[in-house]
Amino acid sequence: MNRCAAPEPGIQRLIKVPGPRVEHGVTNLYIRILVFAVSGFSGGGVFVFAYECRCDTLICMNTIKDVTGRDSGLRPDPMVIIEQYYSPGTKSYEYLVEHGRMVAEKALEIARKVFWLPPGMLFIEEAAMLHDIGIYMTDAPHLGCTGEYPYIAHGYIGRQILEEEGYPLHALVCERHVGVGLTAKEIVEKALPVPARNMVPITLEEEIICFADKLHPVTPEKMLTRISVAEAREDIKVYGPAQLRKFDRWAAMFQEA
Ligand SMILES: [Fe+2]
Repeated sequence: MNRCAAPEPGIQRLIKVPGPRVEHGVTNLYIRILVFAVSGFSGGGVFVFAYECRCDTLICMNTIKDVTGRDSGLRPDPMVIIEQYYSPGTKSYEYLVEHGRMVAEKALEIARKVFWLPPGMLFIEEAAMLHDIGIYMTDAPHLGCTGEYPYIAHGYIGRQILEEEGYPLHALVCERHVGVGLTAKEIVEKALPVPARNMVPITLEEEIICFADKLHPVTPEKMLTRISVAEAREDIKVYGPAQLRKFDRWAAMFQEA
Protein backbone atom coordinates (compact mmCIF):
# COMPACT_ATOMS: atom_id res chain seq x y z
CA MET A 1 0.00 0.00 0.00
CA ASN A 2 1.35 3.41 -0.89
CA ARG A 3 0.39 5.37 2.16
CA CYS A 4 2.49 8.23 0.88
CA ALA A 5 0.12 8.91 -1.99
CA ALA A 6 -2.91 8.82 0.28
CA PRO A 7 -1.80 9.65 3.81
CA GLU A 8 -3.98 8.58 6.65
CA PRO A 9 -5.51 11.31 8.83
CA GLY A 10 -2.69 11.10 11.30
CA ILE A 11 -1.44 8.93 14.06
CA GLN A 12 -2.56 10.51 17.30
CA ARG A 13 -2.05 7.52 19.52
CA LEU A 14 1.25 6.72 21.16
CA ILE A 15 1.25 3.06 22.04
CA LYS A 16 3.57 2.06 24.84
CA VAL A 17 5.34 -1.15 23.98
CA PRO A 18 7.11 -2.96 26.80
CA GLY A 19 10.86 -3.12 26.30
CA PRO A 20 12.50 -6.32 25.12
CA ARG A 21 13.43 -8.96 27.64
CA VAL A 22 17.09 -9.63 27.24
CA GLU A 23 19.09 -12.77 27.77
CA HIS A 24 22.74 -11.84 28.14
CA GLY A 25 23.95 -15.40 27.78
CA VAL A 26 27.39 -16.78 27.15
CA THR A 27 28.57 -13.97 24.88
CA ASN A 28 28.22 -11.45 27.66
CA LEU A 29 30.17 -13.72 30.00
CA TYR A 30 33.05 -13.94 27.52
CA ILE A 31 33.09 -10.16 27.12
CA ARG A 32 33.14 -9.63 30.89
CA ILE A 33 35.99 -12.10 31.37
CA LEU A 34 37.97 -10.42 28.59
CA VAL A 35 37.38 -6.94 30.01
CA PHE A 36 38.35 -8.00 33.52
CA ALA A 37 41.50 -9.66 32.17
CA VAL A 38 42.50 -6.50 30.32
CA SER A 39 41.66 -4.20 33.22
CA GLY A 40 43.67 -6.40 35.60
CA PHE A 41 46.78 -5.22 33.82
CA SER A 42 45.73 -1.60 33.43
CA GLY A 43 43.92 -1.21 36.76
CA GLY A 44 41.11 0.62 34.94
CA GLY A 45 38.14 0.01 37.24
CA VAL A 46 36.21 2.93 35.78
CA PHE A 47 36.93 1.65 32.30
CA VAL A 48 35.53 -1.75 33.26
CA PHE A 49 32.34 -0.22 34.56
CA ALA A 50 31.87 2.00 31.50
CA TYR A 51 32.71 -0.81 29.10
CA GLU A 52 30.31 -3.22 30.78
CA CYS A 53 27.53 -0.67 30.54
CA ARG A 54 28.20 -0.39 26.80
CA CYS A 55 28.34 -4.17 26.48
CA ASP A 56 24.95 -4.46 28.14
CA THR A 57 23.54 -1.97 25.66
CA LEU A 58 25.22 -3.67 22.73
CA ILE A 59 23.96 -7.10 23.68
CA CYS A 60 20.51 -5.70 24.30
CA MET A 61 20.49 -4.23 20.80
CA ASN A 62 22.16 -7.05 18.93
CA THR A 63 20.55 -10.11 20.52
CA ILE A 64 17.06 -9.26 21.53
CA LYS A 65 15.66 -12.51 22.86
CA ASP A 66 13.22 -13.59 25.46
CA VAL A 67 14.36 -15.34 28.62
CA THR A 68 14.17 -18.75 27.00
CA GLY A 69 16.72 -17.69 24.41
CA ARG A 70 14.28 -17.85 21.51
CA ASP A 71 14.11 -15.03 19.04
CA SER A 72 11.24 -12.94 20.33
CA GLY A 73 10.56 -11.46 16.91
CA LEU A 74 11.77 -8.02 17.90
CA ARG A 75 14.42 -7.87 15.17
CA PRO A 76 12.90 -5.77 12.40
CA ASP A 77 13.35 -6.43 8.70
CA PRO A 78 13.56 -2.80 7.53
CA MET A 79 12.45 -3.52 3.97
CA VAL A 80 9.38 -5.44 5.10
CA ILE A 81 8.37 -2.55 7.35
CA ILE A 82 9.11 0.09 4.70
CA GLU A 83 6.97 -1.75 2.13
CA GLN A 84 4.00 -1.65 4.48
CA TYR A 85 4.00 2.12 4.19
CA TYR A 86 5.62 2.85 0.80
CA SER A 87 5.08 1.26 -2.61
CA PRO A 88 8.17 0.18 -4.57
CA GLY A 89 8.66 2.34 -7.63
CA THR A 90 7.26 5.51 -6.09
CA LYS A 91 9.40 8.58 -5.59
CA SER A 92 9.03 8.43 -1.82
CA TYR A 93 10.03 4.75 -1.69
CA GLU A 94 13.08 5.26 -3.89
CA TYR A 95 14.19 8.23 -1.78
CA LEU A 96 13.57 6.56 1.58
CA VAL A 97 15.40 3.36 0.70
CA GLU A 98 18.35 5.04 -1.01
CA HIS A 99 18.73 7.68 1.70
CA GLY A 100 18.44 5.01 4.40
CA ARG A 101 21.14 2.94 2.72
CA MET A 102 23.46 5.94 2.43
CA VAL A 103 22.97 6.88 6.08
CA ALA A 104 23.41 3.26 7.17
CA GLU A 105 26.62 2.95 5.17
CA LYS A 106 28.08 6.12 6.70
CA ALA A 107 26.88 5.25 10.20
CA LEU A 108 28.50 1.80 10.00
CA GLU A 109 31.72 3.39 8.72
CA ILE A 110 31.73 5.68 11.77
CA ALA A 111 30.82 2.84 14.12
CA ARG A 112 33.79 0.79 12.90
CA LYS A 113 36.07 3.69 13.85
CA VAL A 114 34.83 3.63 17.47
CA PHE A 115 34.63 -0.15 17.75
CA TRP A 116 36.03 -0.14 21.29
CA LEU A 117 33.02 1.69 22.73
CA PRO A 118 31.39 -0.65 21.26
CA PRO A 119 28.42 0.32 19.08
CA GLY A 120 25.62 -2.10 18.17
CA MET A 121 26.30 -2.63 14.47
CA LEU A 122 23.16 -4.58 13.58
CA PHE A 123 20.96 -2.11 15.40
CA ILE A 124 22.65 0.81 13.62
CA GLU A 125 22.02 -0.74 10.20
CA GLU A 126 18.34 -1.44 10.96
CA ALA A 127 17.61 1.88 12.64
CA ALA A 128 19.43 3.89 9.96
CA MET A 129 17.26 2.24 7.28
CA LEU A 130 14.12 3.12 9.24
CA HIS A 131 14.96 6.52 10.73
CA ASP A 132 12.91 8.52 8.16
CA ILE A 133 9.94 6.12 7.96
CA GLY A 134 7.62 8.96 9.04
CA ILE A 135 8.17 11.22 6.02
CA TYR A 136 5.12 9.97 4.10
CA MET A 137 2.90 11.81 6.57
CA THR A 138 4.62 15.13 5.87
CA ASP A 139 4.35 17.79 3.22
CA ALA A 140 7.56 17.25 1.25
CA PRO A 141 6.68 17.10 -2.48
CA HIS A 142 10.32 16.91 -3.58
CA LEU A 143 10.44 13.56 -1.74
CA GLY A 144 7.12 12.45 -3.23
CA CYS A 145 5.31 12.98 0.08
CA THR A 146 2.06 14.93 0.29
CA GLY A 147 1.04 14.46 3.91
CA GLU A 148 -0.52 17.07 6.15
CA TYR A 149 2.28 17.47 8.69
CA PRO A 150 5.31 19.76 8.45
CA TYR A 151 8.53 17.93 7.59
CA ILE A 152 9.99 18.43 11.08
CA ALA A 153 7.23 16.18 12.42
CA HIS A 154 8.58 13.10 10.60
CA GLY A 155 10.77 12.22 13.58
CA TYR A 156 8.07 11.80 16.21
CA ILE A 157 5.65 10.36 13.63
CA GLY A 158 8.30 7.76 12.79
CA ARG A 159 8.58 6.93 16.48
CA GLN A 160 4.83 6.33 16.67
CA ILE A 161 4.94 4.08 13.61
CA LEU A 162 7.79 1.92 14.88
CA GLU A 163 6.34 1.70 18.38
CA GLU A 164 3.12 0.44 16.86
CA GLU A 165 5.18 -2.04 14.83
CA GLY A 166 6.78 -3.20 18.09
CA TYR A 167 10.29 -1.75 17.85
CA PRO A 168 10.59 0.81 20.67
CA LEU A 169 14.39 1.16 20.53
CA HIS A 170 14.42 1.82 16.78
CA ALA A 171 11.48 4.19 17.30
CA LEU A 172 13.58 6.41 19.54
CA VAL A 173 16.14 6.85 16.76
CA CYS A 174 13.37 8.29 14.56
CA GLU A 175 12.31 10.79 17.18
CA ARG A 176 15.81 11.82 18.21
CA HIS A 177 17.54 12.34 14.85
CA VAL A 178 15.96 15.63 13.74
CA GLY A 179 18.65 18.33 13.51
CA VAL A 180 21.16 17.38 16.19
CA GLY A 181 18.22 16.60 18.44
CA LEU A 182 15.55 18.93 19.82
CA THR A 183 15.26 19.86 23.48
CA ALA A 184 11.88 20.55 25.05
CA LYS A 185 13.10 24.09 25.82
CA GLU A 186 14.09 24.68 22.20
CA ILE A 187 10.76 23.30 20.95
CA VAL A 188 8.85 25.71 23.20
CA GLU A 189 11.07 28.74 22.57
CA LYS A 190 10.99 28.31 18.78
CA ALA A 191 7.33 27.19 18.80
CA LEU A 192 8.24 24.14 16.74
CA PRO A 193 5.26 22.05 15.57
CA VAL A 194 6.22 18.95 17.53
CA PRO A 195 5.38 17.74 21.05
CA ALA A 196 7.32 19.66 23.71
CA ARG A 197 9.55 16.92 25.07
CA ASN A 198 13.24 16.17 24.85
CA MET A 199 14.02 14.53 21.53
CA VAL A 200 17.79 14.35 21.81
CA PRO A 201 20.11 11.46 20.84
CA ILE A 202 21.21 9.75 24.04
CA THR A 203 22.78 6.43 23.14
CA LEU A 204 25.93 6.05 21.07
CA GLU A 205 23.92 4.45 18.26
CA GLU A 206 21.46 7.34 18.22
CA GLU A 207 24.32 9.85 18.08
CA ILE A 208 26.09 8.02 15.23
CA ILE A 209 22.93 7.79 13.11
CA CYS A 210 22.01 11.42 13.77
CA PHE A 211 25.50 12.57 12.79
CA ALA A 212 25.58 10.40 9.65
CA ASP A 213 22.17 11.76 8.66
CA LYS A 214 23.50 15.33 8.81
CA LEU A 215 25.99 14.41 6.10
CA HIS A 216 23.07 13.42 3.82
CA PRO A 217 20.79 16.46 3.56
CA VAL A 218 17.18 16.32 2.54
CA THR A 219 17.03 19.65 0.66
CA PRO A 220 16.04 19.36 -3.03
CA GLU A 221 19.39 20.57 -4.34
CA LYS A 222 21.44 18.22 -2.14
CA MET A 223 19.20 15.17 -1.66
CA LEU A 224 20.84 11.77 -2.10
CA THR A 225 24.33 13.27 -1.98
CA ARG A 226 26.92 13.19 0.75
CA ILE A 227 28.25 16.54 1.91
CA SER A 228 31.44 17.29 3.81
CA VAL A 229 31.57 17.94 7.55
CA ALA A 230 32.39 21.59 6.76
CA GLU A 231 29.24 21.89 4.63
CA ALA A 232 27.15 20.18 7.30
CA ARG A 233 28.53 22.67 9.88
CA GLU A 234 27.16 25.50 7.76
CA ASP A 235 23.74 23.84 7.78
CA ILE A 236 23.84 23.29 11.55
CA LYS A 237 24.99 26.84 12.27
CA VAL A 238 21.56 28.27 11.56
CA TYR A 239 20.11 26.32 14.50
CA GLY A 240 22.40 28.05 17.04
CA PRO A 241 25.79 27.82 18.76
CA ALA A 242 24.79 25.05 21.17
CA GLN A 243 23.73 22.85 18.27
CA LEU A 244 26.98 23.60 16.44
CA ARG A 245 29.03 22.70 19.53
CA LYS A 246 27.25 19.38 19.77
CA PHE A 247 27.91 18.67 16.08
CA ASP A 248 31.59 19.57 16.51
CA ARG A 249 31.85 17.29 19.55
CA TRP A 250 30.44 14.41 17.51
CA ALA A 251 32.76 15.18 14.59
CA ALA A 252 35.75 14.96 16.95
CA MET A 253 34.50 11.83 18.67
CA PHE A 254 33.81 10.10 15.32
CA GLN A 255 37.09 11.29 13.78
CA GLU A 256 35.30 13.03 10.97
CA ALA A 257 36.78 16.24 9.54
FE1 LIG B 1 17.44 11.18 7.20
